[in-house]
Amino acid sequence: MKAVISSTGLWTPKDSISNAELVEGFNAYVDKWNSENADEIAAGTKDALTYSNAEFIEKASGIKSRFVISKAPILDPNVMAPHIPARPDSEPSILAEIAAKAAVQALENAGRKAEDVDAVIVACSNLQRGYPAIAVEMQDILGTSGFAFDMNVACSSATFGIETARGLIMGGSARSVLVVNPEICTAHLNFKDRDAHFIFGDVATAILVEREDMAPASHWEIIGAKLVTQFSNNIRNNFGFLNHTAPEDDGLHGERGRRGLTDKLFVQNGRSVFKEVVPLVAKLINSECAEHGIDPNDLKRMWLHQANLNMNVLIAKKVLGKDVDIEQAPVVLDEYANTSSAGSIIAFHKHSDDFDTGDTGLICSFGAGYSAGAIFVRKVA
Ligand code: COA
Repeated sequence: MKAVISSTGLWTPKDSISNAELVEGFNAYVDKWNSENADEIAAGTKDALTYSNAEFIEKASGIKSRFVISKAPILDPNVMAPHIPARPDSEPSILAEIAAKAAVQALENAGRKAEDVDAVIVACSNLQRGYPAIAVEMQDILGTSGFAFDMNVACSSATFGIETARGLIMGGSARSVLVVNPEICTAHLNFKDRDAHFIFGDVATAILVEREDMAPASHWEIIGAKLVTQFSNNIRNNFGFLNHTAPEDDGLHGERGRRGLTDKLFVQNGRSVFKEVVPLVAKLINSECAEHGIDPNDLKRMWLHQANLNMNVLIAKKVLGKDVDIEQAPVVLDEYANTSSAGSIIAFHKHSDDFDTGDTGLICSFGAGYSAGAIFVRKVA
């Protein structure tokens, strides 16, 4: 029994922050910090902080803006973090809430009733609690049947989720599986870190993976998939239940990790990631194309992970052996920034309407772990 992608859904926060706004807030923080630490800086015991720069951000990454759940506090030099108040347990959690918005859209796009879905997988980089699973909460909110579970493979969570769903379908455990990727990436970002403060945005995406015989007439056949991982410390976040009461913790739950506990937020060696992940992904795509007898040049589109524009251009060039035009590897990170696992799914959702029956494409993720996932799809209209 084949598994296919029946539909996708996308939820985007209403507020967006431009590079200029972000840099203005950051530079105000720099001025404040430098003036508060003026004596130490003069004595040479502390280094003055340096301004960020909007032109650098766009040139180094391709990012022009990012959608965020909580705008004002990120731009406030006294806060420099989203403010997402804790909710009572009786209320839906924020991750389940935004995931449900994307999920409902995917269900509507497939004409599927919630009760006909028999598994929910929440696949994302940052789960807001240990348990109960956000996916089980979503099962309750949406009214889906069967079972639900969470999984985390960082930026590759969505492709690993799709392949997990395919396995459940082919093994007979489920017929219709909703894979959802709620990514509140701003809450794991250190907005005081000049090297990284521009990288992430918030979003939620959803993919409905189903048995071919129940999918809508227009769907995406999954013609092959490959997942790989290779350990690296170059993208890391040490936050976890074993270290939530570190001595430096200031006791403010929402603020934890932002005041001295910076390794409990996102940390990376961006240059090394760039150098090491590009060949890993190009090799993965090329070997899988060979495995499935696909000439990479016959791929109408590659919906690549959205972390860095220069990185995507290079990967596409290594795969196709020539410069690619933007049509072939569309960019959403200019508007959305890096949204972790959701990035390639946003690109797929927004840039796939022009596919005709028989056209093939590739959804490809890569990121922390390292992890990379390639899902080859063919349109059935
Ligand atoms: N504003 C102005 N200058 C900045 C800056 C900022 N916000 N941040 C860094 N710089 C400076 C650095 O200090 C450095 O200056 P120096 O040469 O005088 O030392 C210079 O710009 C280059 O910094 P570098 O960090 O080497 O930039 P880069 O070209 O590697 O770009 C990334 C940084 C993060 C955009 C890029 O490495 C990247 O995207 N890598 C891939 C990351 C990735 O895919 N991660 C996955 C995450 S899930």
